[in-house]
Amino acid sequence: MMFRSCARRPTTGRRSDLRVAEDVIMSDRILIIDFGSQVTQLIARRVRESGVYCEVHPFNKVTGESLAAFAPKAIILSGGPASVLDIDTPRAADEVFDFGVPVLGICYGQQTMVEQLGGEVQTSDHREFGRAQVRVTEECAIFDGIWHVGAEEQVWMSHGDRVVRLPEGFRVVGTSDGAPYAAIANDERCFYAVQFHPEVVHTPHGAELLKNFTHGVAGCRGDWTMAAFREQEIAKVRKQVGDGRVICGLSGGVDSSVVAVLLHEAIGDQLTCVFVDTGMMRMGEADEVVKLFRDHYNISLVHRDATDLFLGKLDGVSDPEQKRKIIGATFIDVFDEEANNVGGADFLAQGTLYPDVIESVSFHGGPSVTIKSHHNVGGLPERMNMALVEPLRELFKDEVRELGRELGLPESFVGRHPFPGPGLAIRMPGDITREKLDILRKADAIYLEEIRNAGLYDKIWQAFAVLLPVQTVGVMGDARTYDNVCALRAVTSTDGMTADFYHYDMEFLGRAANRIINEVRGINRVVYDITSKPPGTIEWE
Ligand code: XMP
Repeated sequence: MMFRSCARRPTTGRRSDLRVAEDVIMSDRILIIDFGSQVTQLIARRVRESGVYCEVHPFNKVTGESLAAFAPKAIILSGGPASVLDIDTPRAADEVFDFGVPVLGICYGQQTMVEQLGGEVQTSDHREFGRAQVRVTEECAIFDGIWHVGAEEQVWMSHGDRVVRLPEGFRVVGTSDGAPYAAIANDERCFYAVQFHPEVVHTPHGAELLKNFTHGVAGCRGDWTMAAFREQEIAKVRKQVGDGRVICGLSGGVDSSVVAVLLHEAIGDQLTCVFVDTGMMRMGEADEVVKLFRDHYNISLVHRDATDLFLGKLDGVSDPEQKRKIIGATFIDVFDEEANNVGGADFLAQGTLYPDVIESVSFHGGPSVTIKSHHNVGGLPERMNMALVEPLRELFKDEVRELGRELGLPESFVGRHPFPGPGLAIRMPGDITREKLDILRKADAIYLEEIRNAGLYDKIWQAFAVLLPVQTVGVMGDARTYDNVCALRAVTSTDGMTADFYHYDMEFLGRAANRIINEVRGINRVVYDITSKPPGTIEWE
């Protein structure tokens, strides 16, 4: 049975912001209201993967006015850690349900929807965490073509509370042992809600279910492609920049490379890139960057070798936070100097990504603790009196890679593992010397070469060598050695926020270790780091 589409335009409000109005012409938009779930970003990723533009907004920032300005074609309410049974827990603004567009509630989103519309939620003795089975009891628009009446379908649940009475106009379409109202629908108003999490991979049909909501119910066209985004951003940048000058820090990483190529396409010679070589880059990195951008793309590029300056300031420093701060501050000084040398600029381009922009909701109050001071070019705009150009602000990392491919960047750049701003400095506990940097660079290059040879590079989020300030005794030939230990690290991750160590086979590790010990003077022992994040972090410092 096919269900009618509930797609309609919002009936209230005016679009106040010109930028929003332009975007709306380009594509349909879904609003995801965040109640603080660990996996809210996954909802956004699934929606974007289906070709629909969406944004995540914290629940307490969504008002009738902001809804009208954003003009969503549908709204998704995320899960969250709170209980609607407690006082002062988050709710959706009433306007969400009066806005005239389809709404999908997920987990806490279901519970608050039910409670706000007059149903009832209770704490359950039968908690469900992890895999569960949903029995499909009735047909429903969000099940179209995937789930059929009578089937048992695997889902992922994570809840203590559950819905026990439906608001008027709703019917139950799926149940589970712990959630009698695991999936519910109000077809008239195009409101749907599920207790499980369709956004996680452990709900195997979850992405299709979300697509049924965004495309089938809300009528989104799925035309948000990287080709469309590229055109849209180029037009936006031209409009923002006019005939001003833009300066862009290139690091050799994916984000800044994509920003540079996109801007070059948009504004040509108005762009100058600055590549600051801190002396703590990987083997061959500086040359590759200069070759690609200056020679291949013909982008105006300043290449500043600031090795002496950085290493001078870091002389004798071994505290990780101090290293990071010194590198960050020195980077700003050098960048500032080079920007002045080219006559200054009106704009600074940065590769800020969407996960950096999403304002996450904290129920525990207070800012989160600083684990590490990340080095970026924050602080520059105020100091140099420049406006920011951030064309990747709306993208996730994998979308940036897709945009890079769309722009014709070579796969060797687009598929690169992330590399931190402070570079090898934070892969070398203890003080930093040229000799240690050379040793680490060689070990790292061999390790990465072995990973590439084994066809594993693209399966790993990030892999690198770490040089430990620990010496151990070994024997090479007939001689005793007393050299440093090298740790190898490789992790899988989707966003760097959490990570699992990569499960190599032992033969691979043996091969890589052997080569490093044989080919790199100064290392006589190799260990493999099997710490996940949390409790570890990806980098060692
Ligand atoms: P951690 O070590 O915090 O790293 O688990 C998470 C991700 O961030 C990268 N990283 C940085 N990136 N400047 C950056 O641009 C930094 O200061 C920095 N520190 C860590 C790290 O490589 C990993 O991908």
